[in-house]
Amino acid sequence: MNQDPTDTSSISFTALYTGHVWYANGMSAPAFHSTAGSVLYHALMPFEFIGKQLAGGDIKTFLLQRHLIIDHLVEKAIKEDGVEQILEIACGMSPRGTRLCEKFPHIKYIEADLPGMAAKKHRLLTNENTLSTQHQVVPLNIFADGSSDALEVVMEKGFDSSKPVLVITEGLVNYFSLSTIDQFWQRLQLALKQYPTGIYLTDNYPLFHDHPLHRTMKILGGMLGTLSRSQVSFHFHSDLSAQRHFEALGFDSATIHNPVNYYSELEIPRTRGNPFVRVIEARTGGSR
Ligand SMILES: C[S@@+](CC[C@H](N)C(=O)[O-])C[C@H]1O[C@@H](n2cnc3c(N)ncnc32)[C@H](O)[C@@H]1O
Repeated sequence: MNQDPTDTSSISFTALYTGHVWYANGMSAPAFHSTAGSVLYHALMPFEFIGKQLAGGDIKTFLLQRHLIIDHLVEKAIKEDGVEQILEIACGMSPRGTRLCEKFPHIKYIEADLPGMAAKKHRLLTNENTLSTQHQVVPLNIFADGSSDALEVVMEKGFDSSKPVLVITEGLVNYFSLSTIDQFWQRLQLALKQYPTGIYLTDNYPLFHDHPLHRTMKILGGMLGTLSRSQVSFHFHSDLSAQRHFEALGFDSATIHNPVNYYSELEIPRTRGNPFVRVIEARTGGSR
C-alpha cells in the first residue's frame, strides 16, 4: 500500500480493465481497446466463472449494473433537471463522455483523471476528432488543493455557475478509506453549492454484515487493495447509513439506487440475491 493515501497513481491500471469491459459489451468504440486491458480482461475470466457459480453474479455483472444505472440517471438529469454541464472524474477509458456528447450535442462534458491517464485519454479522443470546447479532457486529482488540477479550479474554469451541474465518479471511491474519501466529498458538496442544482453520482460497494459472501468480499477487497496498492474499503453497512452519511456531509438529499429496482426498467444483468453495488445520487439545491 502507498504510504501516502492521496498518491493514487497505482490505481490507474484498473481503468484498462474496466475500459475493456465497456468495449467487450458493445458500449465503446475500437479506439478504446487496449492490449493491456484485453490481457487483464482475459486473465480474470476464470475468477469470473467462479464468482458466477458462488455468488450468482461476477465482476462484470456489477460493473455493467453500475455503468448502465449511472448512464440512466445522467440522461434523466439532462432531460428532467436541465443539466448541461457534466464533470466525469476518474474517467479512465470510459466511453460515456463520447456517447453522451453524440446524443446531446448541447451539453458541456469535461472528462478528468490523474495527469497520466488524462493525457492518454486526451490523445485517444484527439485521434478520434471528438474534442472541442464542449468536450474536454483535463487533469484532476481529487486530493489536489488550489492547483490547476484541483476540483474547485476545474469546475470554476469550466462551468457557468448560473446553471445546474452534475459530477460523476465511477470506480473510484472504494479505493479509499471512508475518512480519506470524506475529504473529497466534503469539498465536493461545497463546490456543488455554487450552482443552482448540484448532482453527484457515484457507485459504491457496501458490506452488509448479513450478506452470505461477507467474508469472500473482504478477501477480494484485500486482494484488490494489494494489487492497486491502495486502501480498498467498503464504506457502509446499510443503504440507510450511506444515505445518512451523505446528508451529514452537507448534501441536501441522498438516494441510494439498488440495481434490483432497475431490473424491469433497464437492460442490466441480474444478480442472484442482493447485488454488491449501489449507485448513490447526492444532491444540493434544486427541488428534489
Ligand atoms: C477503476 S478505474 C475507473 C475508470 C472509469 N471510471 C471506469 O469506470 O471505467 C479508476 C480510475 O481512477 C483514477 N484515479 C485514481 N486516483 C485518482 C485521483 N486521486 N483523482 C482522480 N482520479 C483518480 C485512475 O487513474 C483510474 O482511471
